[in-house]
Amino acid sequence: MKLTRRLGLAALFATILAAALLLPLSHAGAQNDLTGFWVFRVPTGDGNFRQSFFDLKQEGDTITGKAIQFSREVPISEGSFRDGKLRFVVEFTFGNPPQTRRVVYDGTLEGDKLALTSTTTGREPVAGTLERSRPEAALPPPRLPLPELRDLPDNGLARTPPMGWNSWNLFACRGVSDQLVREIADAMVSSGMKDAGYLYVNIDDCWMGPRDAEGNLTSNTKFPDMKALADYVHSKGLKIGIYTSPGPTTCQGYPATYGHEEQDARTFAAWGMDYLKYDWCSAGRIYKDEEMQAVYQKMGEALRKTGRPIVYSLCQYGRAEVWKWGAKVGGNLWRTTGDIRDTWESMDRIGFRQFDIAQYQQPGHWNDPDMLEVGNGSMTADEYRTHMSLWAMLAAPLLAGNDLRKMSDETKEILLNREVIAIDQDPAGKPVQRISPADATAVVLARPLHDGSTAIGLFNRADTPQSITVKWADVGLVYPESAAGGRRAGKKLRARDLWKHADVPLSGDSYSVTVPAHAVVLLQVTPH
Ligand code: GLA
Repeated sequence: MKLTRRLGLAALFATILAAALLLPLSHAGAQNDLTGFWVFRVPTGDGNFRQSFFDLKQEGDTITGKAIQFSREVPISEGSFRDGKLRFVVEFTFGNPPQTRRVVYDGTLEGDKLALTSTTTGREPVAGTLERSRPEAALPPPRLPLPELRDLPDNGLARTPPMGWNSWNLFACRGVSDQLVREIADAMVSSGMKDAGYLYVNIDDCWMGPRDAEGNLTSNTKFPDMKALADYVHSKGLKIGIYTSPGPTTCQGYPATYGHEEQDARTFAAWGMDYLKYDWCSAGRIYKDEEMQAVYQKMGEALRKTGRPIVYSLCQYGRAEVWKWGAKVGGNLWRTTGDIRDTWESMDRIGFRQFDIAQYQQPGHWNDPDMLEVGNGSMTADEYRTHMSLWAMLAAPLLAGNDLRKMSDETKEILLNREVIAIDQDPAGKPVQRISPADATAVVLARPLHDGSTAIGLFNRADTPQSITVKWADVGLVYPESAAGGRRAGKKLRARDLWKHADVPLSGDSYSVTVPAHAVVLLQVTPH
């Protein structure tokens, strides 16, 4: 009896011990332990998937771990997994100057996957699935050698800053398609944009499909026939541009050019592309900033080899002092900043920071402070006039980023102001000079033009109106005989207000005007 009891107790203990040992094992094996490596796959609606990776660790209800973004690991926070519901937050930092984007992930367990939705503050939620993966899947491809640095000859293009339109600012990924590009080309002609000088219709990110069996990059379902599209745009007397990245994927996660530089350049040339924007994006997973010059040279050489004239637009957000080597790699323009947004703060921060590098540009090779937001709706008319005037004073590329199919009269008046466009397109392409002190809210800019006249911009960055003065002596417009008698100096000058399209009477050795908040007075002053 005693023995039986002892055996019984031993068996009971053994059972409890086994259960205690086995329980965590079986728990670990079940789908409701999320510890492990995961891929978040989001269908993009055009046959592609956008992928991002997570390394998760579950302890009780708590989820910790990291998101793998390119080669960087970003910690996740506020993570929990309760009753089949997953939630965590990632704060991604990107851009120059850096901005932080808070993304909240919400998932529901469905068999061996989770239905996951990511919500970025201020944006539509994005839905996909979270599936088990392996860390190798998130690794960049092996590093390929880079060319020795050399100076490529000038391709002879973009003697004045390129003008045209680009799909990104308004249509981003979702809105861009063959149909849109055709309609924009139509509108470019019917709105008078083409006659005013806008020439390139540029497709930005999100046009790519997978590579075919021979490794040729294909377009996705939204672009059924790139050659036919290019033919259409050409038939309107316009030119067409395309976009890719030197990395394995574009900024939006689409297949890109890494290891296929010559092949993709040949594809673009065969389609009839006239312009390429080459956007760093995931190249940062493989190469360092110091290697950018060689990376961009590789594509510069590949474009050259095609024999087709293709404007080469470098986009690496102004890192590694690109203005010092952009022309050497065959670049016709190079981005000098992070991405613009349709706000006064963004445009003001970017636009008024370009003066110190103005000396590095020249005909054929331009600083690019990013595309225009005119007409996208979140700035006032004065602010958009400031945007257009400032880009013109900088001799910046004028790539409209709005919907050319429906432009208000006000938007047209700004984008189609030929007198302002002429400042931008001045054939001398001389650098702008800042006359006012750095950081002043009253900014006076001057740029000598090819015909001996001078463009003068009086910009008010402040939130209230202020009087702004330009002294002729400060912009080199005083001549020996009038230097002493200031009264006469203005009389020797003829000035035209390029927004009012009217002459402005001058006298004395300076000109003062009250400029409303965030507004501009743009003058062209000619000695006579
Ligand atoms: C980067 C570029 C933008 C745009 C997007 C597309 O952010 O700077 O101009 O091309 O990529 O993904």
